[in-house]
Amino acid sequence: MNNLEQTLSIVKPDAVERNLQNEIKKNFIENGFIIKKEKKIQISKSEAEEFYKVHQSKPFYGDLCNYLSSGPIVVMILEKENAVLENRKLMGATDPLKAEEGTLRKKYGISIDKNSVHGSDSYENAKIEIDFFFKH
Ligand code: CMP
Repeated sequence: MNNLEQTLSIVKPDAVERNLQNEIKKNFIENGFIIKKEKKIQISKSEAEEFYKVHQSKPFYGDLCNYLSSGPIVVMILEKENAVLENRKLMGATDPLKAEEGTLRKKYGISIDKNSVHGSDSYENAKIEIDFFFKH
């Protein structure tokens, strides 16, 4: 039954701007995640476009890429049993207004765009997203 997984987490510009990264990291640790790697970086718009390319047909794609590249972010590899699903549960719904009490997006999110954290949505995407930020 052992299913140790890794997933990618991003603390987005709105949360880094409010200096929430350590508090968010505390939530991960208290919920049994191990932070295997982390770095604070700022990415370019074209890197954001590559990262979010699954959303390229969506009307919010341009704003989303402008936003992710608008300021520093903290990217992390999180490890835990069933990490992908567990991180999605901890983050809560994409829209902070719909997120459950106690979830990261409920606690820290400002709007659907400025929702403070990103997490991989599947095991396959976790591998792709981890490689995107940590391959080199
Ligand atoms: P994230 O989990 O990083 O994945 C894509 C992001 O697009 C999402 O969080 C939201 O911040 C943003 N977004 C903006 N508008 C929408 C929308 N209508 N539906 C889903 N995601 C949206």
